[in-house]
Amino acid sequence: MKEILAELERRRDTAQLGGGLRRIEAQHKRGKLTARERIEVLLDEGTFEEFDMFKQHRCTDFGMDSQHIPGDGVVTGWGTVNGRTIYVFSKDFTVLGGSLSEAHAEKMTKLQDMALRNRAPVIGLFDAGGARIQEGVAALGGYGEVFSRNVLASGVIPQISLIMGPCAGGDVYSPAMTDFIFMVRDTSYMFVTGPDVVKTVTNETVTSEELGGASVHTTKSSIADGAFDNDVEALHEMRRLIDFLPMHNQADVPEIECHDDPHRIDMSLDTLIPDNPNKPYDMKELVLKTVDEGDFYELQESFAANIITGFGRIEGRTVGIVANQPMVLAGVLDSDASRKAARFVRFCDCFGIPIVTYVDVPGFLPGTAQEYGGLIKHGAKLLFAFTEATVPKVTVITRKAYGGAYDVMSSKHIRGDINYAWPTAEIAVMGAKGAVEIIYRAELGDPDKIAQRTKDYEDRFANPFVAAERGYIDDVIRPHSTRRRVARALALLRSKKVELPWKKHDNIPL
Ligand code: HXC
Repeated sequence: MKEILAELERRRDTAQLGGGLRRIEAQHKRGKLTARERIEVLLDEGTFEEFDMFKQHRCTDFGMDSQHIPGDGVVTGWGTVNGRTIYVFSKDFTVLGGSLSEAHAEKMTKLQDMALRNRAPVIGLFDAGGARIQEGVAALGGYGEVFSRNVLASGVIPQISLIMGPCAGGDVYSPAMTDFIFMVRDTSYMFVTGPDVVKTVTNETVTSEELGGASVHTTKSSIADGAFDNDVEALHEMRRLIDFLPMHNQADVPEIECHDDPHRIDMSLDTLIPDNPNKPYDMKELVLKTVDEGDFYELQESFAANIITGFGRIEGRTVGIVANQPMVLAGVLDSDASRKAARFVRFCDCFGIPIVTYVDVPGFLPGTAQEYGGLIKHGAKLLFAFTEATVPKVTVITRKAYGGAYDVMSSKHIRGDINYAWPTAEIAVMGAKGAVEIIYRAELGDPDKIAQRTKDYEDRFANPFVAAERGYIDDVIRPHSTRRRVARALALLRSKKVELPWKKHDNIPL
């Protein structure tokens, strides 16, 4: 018996070493943790249980029969994050560059199947060179199996991808179908085809960082939802994110003990809006002052910053926050902002997370660049997402709500549940100046007349009361009481239940 136990220990020790000490050292030299070290940081101490530690590939081509490393380049298993179950796979770059073989894919799909059956989130830690080149089509088949499970699990359990090294070929498409992608600055990059292929096909010379580094994917492509400075920070931030998310689409949103009075008032909000309607102010101040303890998990912070998206808590329960940001492009809705917010709203709706929307929007961004880029369809994505969402929706208009953007930003007309406005709200087809220039075009040569017309238009429409008279706004509230009113609205809506007419699925304008 003793010998049998010793043999188990010996096999475990070999598996734990992955590609060996030399490659582990190389991994550390690059500032990266190993696959197993990452799991240790991610999960609660001592909770990781590994599956398939001894699994090996079955390939015999190109000398692979002499290269058997137990575990085959991916560590899989489960553990807990602050006590809640999480399934995790972590690519081991020290084993054949973390490349995916048929056996490696089987480990991943086993985990995905378990997570879906048992309804708990999956987090994937990526550091890998794509399909195992020696295996050919068997590896491609393996990727297909992983992809199909990503799709089946979408909207049922949260799926998160953290990119912690190279991520090429097949390894980009699985993350692309998960709910969130995060990256580590300087050590991670993602692309479908690398710099060498790019050079051959398009004759462009680019580095890996320029092609698919964290700064590209958080600012230009919007593939990544955020980036962190190193592995440890990234993994700690994943723990923070997981705390906001429900386990699956039929679970309640997490509720933690609330040490911040939900009825807390904040007098400074009464002076947040500047006297000059064209002067910006920071909408994030309102977000931070209304969520519990100022704790806000922002997503896509560096992309389309004219709209803010992220998670917070009110009375201890997770809410999704969508807010126009007057500090960037005056908070206008453009294609990027619409796409960004639409995807976030759909995530919240999938997982039953109530949505709080703060509105200060001068309209959609005009111009050929926007129109040629498909603004109509991109704007429609946000309109569609807010409209189809059946979760509780609470909206507060702080200042401008002009034109189509008024309708889009979770208005009453698209099934907003509770819609409030601050007394500073201006709900109108457009700003007074633009409106007068159109309807009084003939008088444009007379500045006094135009000034009077503009004042008349402002007096009539630059307020929340015309909308309130029609019931489009449920109440005009004092800014300092926003947290209290939103918290009470969310409490009221806890029992909300609406169903969409039967359909196979909708046809959102992609
Ligand atoms: C087998 C691989 C491998 C792969 C890396 N390795 N990628 N082995 N299949 N795909 C091995 C290397 O041979 C090396 O082994 C070890 O992993 C580390 O790789 P290095 O090249 O030394 O590391 P580095 O210089 O850091 O470069 C990392 C890399 C590069 C950028 C990922 O290895 C690379 O470009 N790999 C190929 C990427 C690729 O084209 N993949 C196929 C994509 S096609 P030793 O023994 O020397 O340590 C694809 C199709 C799926 O994925 C499509 C589905 C939609």
